Amino acid sequence: MATRKKAKFKLRANKSRAPAKKSAGKAVKSAARKPAMSTAKVAAKKPSAKTANGNTLPRPSSMPWGEAGRALDGVRILDFTHVQSGPTCTQLLAFMGADVIKVERPGVGDITRGQLRDVKGADSLYFTMLNGSKRSITIDSKHPKGKEILDRLVKECDVLVENFAPGALDRMGLTFEHIHKLNPRMIVASVKGFGPGPYEDCKVYENVAQCAGGSASTTGFRDGPPLVTGAQIGDSGTGLHLALGIVAALYQRNRTGRGQKVLCAMQDGVLNLARVKLRDQQRLAHGALTEYSQYGEGVPFGDTVPRAGNDSGGGQPGWILKCKGYESDPDAYIYFITQAPVWGAICDVIGKPEWKTDPDYATPNARLPRLKHIFGTIEQWTMTKTKFEAMDILNKLDIPCGPILSMKELAHEQSLRATGTVVEVDHPTRGPYLTVGNPIKLSDSIADVRRSPLLGEHTDEVLRDVLKYADREIEAIKGSGAISAPEKKAEAAAA
Ligand code: COA
Repeated sequence: MATRKKAKFKLRANKSRAPAKKSAGKAVKSAARKPAMSTAKVAAKKPSAKTANGNTLPRPSSMPWGEAGRALDGVRILDFTHVQSGPTCTQLLAFMGADVIKVERPGVGDITRGQLRDVKGADSLYFTMLNGSKRSITIDSKHPKGKEILDRLVKECDVLVENFAPGALDRMGLTFEHIHKLNPRMIVASVKGFGPGPYEDCKVYENVAQCAGGSASTTGFRDGPPLVTGAQIGDSGTGLHLALGIVAALYQRNRTGRGQKVLCAMQDGVLNLARVKLRDQQRLAHGALTEYSQYGEGVPFGDTVPRAGNDSGGGQPGWILKCKGYESDPDAYIYFITQAPVWGAICDVIGKPEWKTDPDYATPNARLPRLKHIFGTIEQWTMTKTKFEAMDILNKLDIPCGPILSMKELAHEQSLRATGTVVEVDHPTRGPYLTVGNPIKLSDSIADVRRSPLLGEHTDEVLRDVLKYADREIEAIKGSGAISAPEKKAEAAAA
C-alpha cells in the first residue's frame, strides 16, 4: 500500500478568501486545472489515465490532501435565488468552492434578510444561515443599465440559478435563448413549485410542496390530520436536488462544451424523497402492509397509503419510546428498532428471555400482529433509562436505536462542531451565530464556510474585478440608479 498522508476532512470557517480568478466560459477547465498547475502541465505531456469516453485525466495531484483546492474552484455562479430553496443550493456549491455572486434588489435584497428577525437592524438568521460563503451585488434587473450589467455577468458566469415565480426570469429579459446567445456554456438552473402540467404557474412554498409531493398525506397518525415535517424537504430538499443537477450539467459540459437548462420542481423533489410511500401504494394492490402497526391492530387498509405514525419505513419494525424523564422533557424519547438478527439480545436486555423461543414472539412474522404489545413492553424498560443510557446499552448489543435529539442538544454537540457540520461564524452586525456547514464531506476539498454577505457588500468588487468596469464607469453606474435603492435613485435623478 502506498504510504500517503491519510485523508482528513478539513474545515475552514469564516475566513475570507479571494475568489478564484477565471475567464469567461472556462470555469470547469480551470477547476480541473486549479489544484496544481505544475502537476497539470506535467500531465499534459504524460497522461496517466483516461475516462470511459477516452478523455485524458491529469496525473494525480501531489499536493497534500485537502490542500489541492476545492471541488468547485473556478466555477462562478450568478445567483438569482431568494427565500430558501434556491439559496440552499447555491450555498452548498459555495461551500464546495464555487464563487457565488448573489444578485439582490437594491435597498431590499432577499426578502428573508428581514423575515423572522431576532436582532434589530441585523440580517435575520433565516437569511444568514442560507447565504453563507456568497458575495452580494445589488442590481435593479429592470433598469436598462442593470440589464447591461446582468448581460455582462451572464458572460462571466458558468451557472445561473434562480427560483423566481414562473415567468419572472423571462420578464426580466433573461430568457434561455438570450442567455445562451450571450454565453452558450451557461447552465440555467431553476427551482419551480411544479413541473409542466396543471399547476405549473403556481407559486409554491415549503409546506405546499410537502402536501403536493405525497409527504403530508403519509405523515402523522392514522386518526389525525395530515402533517408537515420539520425537515424542509420541499425547499432544502429541492435545493439539494438542483445542486446535483448543476454538477451533472457542469460535468456534461466538459464533453459537449455547451450549457443546458436544469429544472427541479419541488413536487418532484418531495415525491422522490417519499418514494417508499409510492412503493407501499403499489404493494396495497397485493394485500395489507403488514409492517404498519395498523395491521397488528386489525384495522383494515383502504385503497391509499395511510399515515403510519412512527412506524419504520422499512422492513424492520420500529417505534418511538419514552425514556426516563419524559414527563418533563419533551425530547426524552428513543427510536427503537426490533431488527430481526438482534431479537435475542433485545429479549435479554428487556428481561424477556422467554420470548426468544415462544412461537408467538420468536419469528418476525409471529411478532407482526403483536408489535403494540412488544413495544409497550420494551418501553417499560426504556422508561428506566435516560435516552443516552439506553443508547449506550443498546449500541453495545448492536441494537439499532437513536435518541430524539433536541435542537439545543444538536447546537452543543461537540462531534458536530468537530466535523464542521455545525459551525460558528462571526457577522459584523449580528455577531457570532451558528450555521450548518457542509453536510457532504469530501476528503480532498476543504469546506469553505463563511458568514453571509451584507446587502450589496461586494457590488464594487464584482463590478471592478469580475466585470472589469473602470472606476469612472462604476461612478456612472452609481449615478444611474441601477444599483441603488429607490430613495438614492431619486437623489441621483434630482442631482
Ligand atoms: N431587481 C428588480 N426586480 C427584481 C429583482 C431585482 N434584482 N429580483 C427580483 N425582482 C422581481 C422579479 O422580477 C419579480 O417581478 P415580476 O413579478 O414583475 O416579474 C418580483 O421581483 C417577484 O418575484 P417572485 O419570484 O414572484 O417573488 P414572490 O415573493 O412574489 O414569490 C415565491 C415568492 C417563492 C412564492 C416564488 O418566487 C416562487 O414560487 N418560486 C418558485 C418556487 C420556490 O422556489 N418556492 C420556494 C421558496 S422557499
